[in-house]
Amino acid sequence: CGIVGYIGNQDAKEILVKGLEKLEYRGYDSSGIALLNDSGLHVYKEQGRIAALREAIDEQEQATVGIGHTRWATHGKPSRRNAHPHLSNSGRFTVVHNGVIENYEELRAQYLLDTPFVSETDTEVIVQLLDKWVNSGLAVEDAFRQLLLEIKGSYAVALLDNQDLETIYVGKNKSPLLIGLGPDFHVIASDAMAMLQVTNQFVELMDEEIVILRQNFKRIQNLNGEVIQRRPFHVKLNASDIEKGPYPHYMLKEIDEQPIVIRKVISKYQDAAGDLIMDSEIRDCMKKADRIYIIACGTSYHAGLAGKQLIEQIADIPVETHIASEFLYNRPILSPKPFFIFISQSGETADIRGVLVAIKQMGYSSLTITNVPGSTLSREATHTLLTHAGPEIAVASTKAYTAQIAVLAILAFDSARAKGIQLNVNPAHELSIAANAMEIMINHKEVMEEIVWQYLNDSHNCFFIGRGVDYYACLEGALKLKEISYIQAEGFPGGELKHGTIALIEEGTPVIALLTQAHVRANIRSNVQEVKARGAHVCMISIEGIEEKEDHVILPAVYEWLTPLVSVIPFQLIAYYAALYRGCDIDKPRNLAKSVTVE
Ligand code: G6P
Repeated sequence: CGIVGYIGNQDAKEILVKGLEKLEYRGYDSSGIALLNDSGLHVYKEQGRIAALREAIDEQEQATVGIGHTRWATHGKPSRRNAHPHLSNSGRFTVVHNGVIENYEELRAQYLLDTPFVSETDTEVIVQLLDKWVNSGLAVEDAFRQLLLEIKGSYAVALLDNQDLETIYVGKNKSPLLIGLGPDFHVIASDAMAMLQVTNQFVELMDEEIVILRQNFKRIQNLNGEVIQRRPFHVKLNASDIEKGPYPHYMLKEIDEQPIVIRKVISKYQDAAGDLIMDSEIRDCMKKADRIYIIACGTSYHAGLAGKQLIEQIADIPVETHIASEFLYNRPILSPKPFFIFISQSGETADIRGVLVAIKQMGYSSLTITNVPGSTLSREATHTLLTHAGPEIAVASTKAYTAQIAVLAILAFDSARAKGIQLNVNPAHELSIAANAMEIMINHKEVMEEIVWQYLNDSHNCFFIGRGVDYYACLEGALKLKEISYIQAEGFPGGELKHGTIALIEEGTPVIALLTQAHVRANIRSNVQEVKARGAHVCMISIEGIEEKEDHVILPAVYEWLTPLVSVIPFQLIAYYAALYRGCDIDKPRNLAKSVTVE
């Protein structure tokens, strides 16, 4: 979910709705705004995209104060009723909230047994309880602080009181929140991108902080009431980076951008002599570590698996790659000298932040690899490496994944050098070759379009098989297909299929097999024979040097541990065309959010 707020002297509704459009990546199942003016609170909400909200808002409604929300459902299904802002029963208070209130049932049982609730959300407890406490004599600010002290969980909240046209009450714990500063106005936003339309100066809020916000006044306090001074920071972003241009979908644009992104990554990490190098502090952390723990979710997790191969094979450091939400609750036994790497396109994923907070408490240092400078994970980790992919708008990640792998490769090469390992390749040269190979694949889209017609035209399921680093790439291929075309897909280690899952193979089942590693050439080819013998319809993707004449796609040869950069291109395009032919919403698939800011 994402929240916005405005208090100043301009028309709030346009600023809020534009802000929400920029936050749609955080969820888009419903949205709403509340405007406050002399005639009271005016709440508009709609199920579905922000476009529906825009339609619903009364053009004539003028207000210079307001808050807004775009939702990714946690408690209560997507509907108008469950959309934010939520109103207290008296109609006095309204709130927007990003996060999860873990003890909302307890709070309700303890204080609000007689209060009927309108929605099924955890959020509603905030306004109902506040209303009750203010009714019983507490000042709004005190009641708000009291409430945040009682709440367990995560929140970025903004609250309006219809009896006070000059104040927004703001609170933050775990969910990110920024205050934007302007001449004669203040804004709030879950992400700076939402408010770059009006300002590029922001103040970050920390956990358990409250802000009293007025047009020309802001006071940040902690929950004990101590006032906090904090300096603003500047955010730079090129607005044209976010435009779709002539492309029908952001995803296709972002797939096409990948070779350029890899070249950009190379140039960003190159020193004057043309060598790819890391910051010396990061190098030291890598060198000292006896084990690297990579923590990530979704596509970034798959990049982390490719990173494990790169760092282990090139720099000879053991690496464990973990799914963030698993690591937090099933923590593995750590080695004596661990170093943590968090990979996150957005830098906002709550599951990852949970791990970062936990390992910081244990005193460990960390590195965030992210696409978003100034993002929460970047601010909170000891070190940051940027992936320089530019804004990624399509929910299904493409260029962020390949940029993450490129940065991990540079890290691996640099660590190897620092450890005195003789590199028999030139890293910048090998990455350039990979970028060229990606470009060649991108220039042959018709091949992947044809594969979709031949193999996935009526299919409800599909297998991706490979071994080692190809298996990791297959996990990403399957995820892309699932996310945007809704075809059930599974990435599987080629050799493991026979131990159970092969039972699912029947006449015509599509199997996409990937082979980029010479040492498993015979194995994967025999796995292909096994599924063919059971009726599978196999599409073989191999690489120059170990290809066979009848293979369907042949990738240009690249350095052996950089193959995921190239093999993912046909996978991304296959997913794209499969979704296109099925009429799916490619850039905003159902049920998803680009950045999930709840655990
Ligand atoms: C969401 C997105 C995925 C993404 C994952 C991790 O679930 O839908 O596409 O891979 O979050 O996001 P991050 O920003 O941390 O890389």
